[in-house]
Amino acid sequence: MSTVPIEELHAVRDLALKAVSEANADGELEEVSRTYLGKKGQIRKHMRVLGQLSPEERPAFGKAVNDVSTEVEDALETRRKELHAIRRAAALTDPHFDPTLPGTRPASGTVHPLTLVDWRLDEIFRSMGFYVLDYPEIDTEYFNFEALNVPADHPARDMQDTFWINDEHLLRTHTSAGQVRAMKEFKPPFKAIFPGRVFRYEATDASHDHTFHQVEGLYVDREVSVANLIASMKTLLSEIFGREVEIRLRPGYFPFVEPGFELDISCLVCGGGGCSVCKQSGWVELLPCGLVHPNVLRAGGLDPTAWQGWAFGLGLSRLVMMRYQIDDIRHLLSGDIRFLRQFEGTGLE
Ligand code: PHE
Repeated sequence: MSTVPIEELHAVRDLALKAVSEANADGELEEVSRTYLGKKGQIRKHMRVLGQLSPEERPAFGKAVNDVSTEVEDALETRRKELHAIRRAAALTDPHFDPTLPGTRPASGTVHPLTLVDWRLDEIFRSMGFYVLDYPEIDTEYFNFEALNVPADHPARDMQDTFWINDEHLLRTHTSAGQVRAMKEFKPPFKAIFPGRVFRYEATDASHDHTFHQVEGLYVDREVSVANLIASMKTLLSEIFGREVEIRLRPGYFPFVEPGFELDISCLVCGGGGCSVCKQSGWVELLPCGLVHPNVLRAGGLDPTAWQGWAFGLGLSRLVMMRYQIDDIRHLLSGDIRFLRQFEGTGLE
C-alpha cells in the first residue's frame, strides 16, 4: 500500500490554479502565492511528508511537489500579465484618458544650497587670487587649538565644545584648524580659502547645529591691513547677495587674531525687524575676523616681524540661510527632499 499523498497534492494544485484564475488584482495574486507557495504554504507542506516515504518513493514525490510549485508559479505569472494587460486596455479606452497631456517628468536631483553658495565663493575668491584648499575634518588638538594660541588651560577652549575622537584627535571645531597647515604648506605671500564642515558638541536650535559649514580665509604677506580685509569682505557679500549689504564691525575676541572683530550683517531673513535667526536683534554674526596673532605665524614657521596676515571664518551655513531666507539651520542637513527641491534651478549665476 502506498502512503504517497499524490492525490492530495494534485487536489491542492487544482485549488491553487482555480484561485489564480479567479484573482482580479495583484494583491489577490500575492495572497494566493503566500497561501500555496509560502514556506508554510499548502504545497511546500508536502515536502515534510518526504521523510515518511520509502527511499524508492522519495525522488518521484519530491519531483511532483516541485513540478506543482512550478506550475502554480507559472500560472501566477501568466495571470499577473493578463491583469496588467486588462488594466492597460481599460486605461487606453477610458474616455477621460488624454494622450496629448504632457507626461510626468522624471525626478532629477538638485544642487544643495550650501554647495551652490560654496561654488560661487570659490569662484569669487579664485578671481581675487586665492587658492581653494581642503583640510581634514578629523584633526589634532595641536592644529585645532594649540597652534592657534589656545593652550590646554586656556579659557577660550570653552568657547567651542568639542567632539573628541581620542586624547589627541578631534572633529575640528572650526576651519581655522587649517591656518597653520596652510602656512607650513605654502611659501608666503599667499592667499587661500578653505571651506568645509565643522563640528561642535552643543545643543541645537534654529541657529545652531552640531555640524555646520565655514569658509576660512587667510592672507599672508609682508604687510596686510584691516582696511583690505574689510574691503574684501564687502566685495564678497555684495557678490553673493547681488546688492550692497549693511554691515557692522564690533571688537571680537579670538586668541588667534589681534585685533579681532565680529562682522555682522543686517538680518536678511526678517529685514532687520527681528526673528529667530537673528535672535530678535536684527543683526547676524556672519564673519569673525582679524589680524593673525604673532604666535600663530610663529607656529606656521613664519617670523612675525617679517610677515603679517589677516584671517576670517565665514559662517557659510548662516550665509546660505541669509541668501535663501531659511529660518532654521537644521533644514540644511536634514536631507529633507521637500526642502532641497526648492533650490531647483536657483544656481547663483
Ligand atoms: N574660527 C573662529 C570660530 O569658528 C572664527 C575666526 C576665524 C575668527 C578667523 C577669527 C579669524 O569661531
